[in-house]
Amino acid sequence: MEAYRVAGHDAPLTLVLGGTGKTGRRVVERLQARSVATRVGSRAGVPRFDWDDRETWAPALRGVGAVYVAYAPDLAVPAAEPAITGLVEAAAAEGVERLVLLSGRGEAEAERCERIVQGSGMAWTILRASWFAQNFTEGFFYDLVLSGEVALPAGPVAEPFVDAEDIAAVAVAALTEEGHGGQLYELTGPRLLSFAEAVATIAGATGRPVRYVPISVEAFVAELAAQQVPDDAIALLRYLFTTVLDGRNEALADGVRQALGREPHDFAAFARGAAARGAWSL
Ligand SMILES: NC(=O)c1ccc[n+]([C@@H]2O[C@H](COP(=O)([O-])OP(=O)(O)OC[C@H]3O[C@@H](n4cnc5c(N)ncnc54)[C@H](OP(=O)(O)O)[C@@H]3O)[C@@H](O)[C@H]2O)c1
Repeated sequence: MEAYRVAGHDAPLTLVLGGTGKTGRRVVERLQARSVATRVGSRAGVPRFDWDDRETWAPALRGVGAVYVAYAPDLAVPAAEPAITGLVEAAAAEGVERLVLLSGRGEAEAERCERIVQGSGMAWTILRASWFAQNFTEGFFYDLVLSGEVALPAGPVAEPFVDAEDIAAVAVAALTEEGHGGQLYELTGPRLLSFAEAVATIAGATGRPVRYVPISVEAFVAELAAQQVPDDAIALLRYLFTTVLDGRNEALADGVRQALGREPHDFAAFARGAAARGAWSL
């Protein structure tokens, strides 16, 4: 497919916000493999992009035709809506023509951010994703896996963990190909897994004695507080493990097949691949 080009620019850049994170890093790698001129949006980027410093937004958007928007820490936090509103305004002012927003399933706050992007006047694609498999290798659950006890307040709820590689593949298609404008893709893995099943799958792939231990939300919050996790981060985790994991997302969706014409990767394949790469080796 033709790489996306903006009229009047010789080499419009694609800006990847969160470009060093779980999905963004993979989006950058895939764009670069396609020789798409790419700018990594990060507090360590050149120019720097910081969600907490609006002065950094216009310089990062200069010369950009398309933006992948992975907001940090989460579209559910109160700062997200004004940030997405401001980013859309800044992007329009810089002549950006295409936005691809990473969103989360089951979050009313994220859906408000989706509507801001949908009303931006730019071409848009929404990627509404379930919980990432990579939370177990690069995210919050990684240290718990290494400790041998994944103690979380998830009860028996099942989640269709999605591989961040699939999200990145859909993002790159939406950023570089035609036919994805005005689409809201709901991205899940191909199978519902309880946390006990997900952790058992990792244990099987690694040979490590790791198990899931269901705990109460109160015990979880008390442990986070004891570890001096900031209050706003605790509030976000409490929200994710209560509201978002209340069973509302216990359903598969076919966004990967809609966007790419193939099935999403299975969690077992993710776990085997991660174990083979030494993701959980000490
Ligand atoms: N994790 C999941 O299971 C999941 C599921 C569905 C949706 N989502 C959504 O995905 C998005 C990203 O979540 P994630 O967990 O995957 O995190 P992540 O993308 O791995 O987060 C880290 C990224 O955010 C950047 N970042 C952090 N603070 C920043 C700041 N103040 N300014 C600019 N960039 C900043 C980091 O860049 P630097 O540190 O280099 O600046 C890094 O690129 C969130 O909006 C979340 O709602 C996540």
